[in-house]
Amino acid sequence: MPAKVTIINNGPIRIEGEFEVFDMNGNKFNTEGKERISLCRCSQSSKAPFCDGTHKTCGFESEIIAS
Ligand code: FES
Repeated sequence: MPAKVTIINNGPIRIEGEFEVFDMNGNKFNTEGKERISLCRCSQSSKAPFCDGTHKTCGFESEIIAS
C-alpha cells in the first residue's frame, strides 16, 4: 500500500504507511518502526525535518486545498 501524504492546514505534512525519509545527500533519517510521521512546514521546529508542535504557537498559517 502506498504512503498517504496529508497536508495539515496550519500544520505539518503527515505521512502514513510505508515510507523512508532522506536528506539531500541521501542520508536516511531513522524512522524505523514508525508508521506515521509529521514533517514540519513552518520551519520553526527544533526537531527538523520533523514537526515538534511549534506551529501551534508560532503563528504559522497555511491552508492548502486540493483542486
Ligand atoms: S509544522 Fe509543526 S513545528 Fe513546524
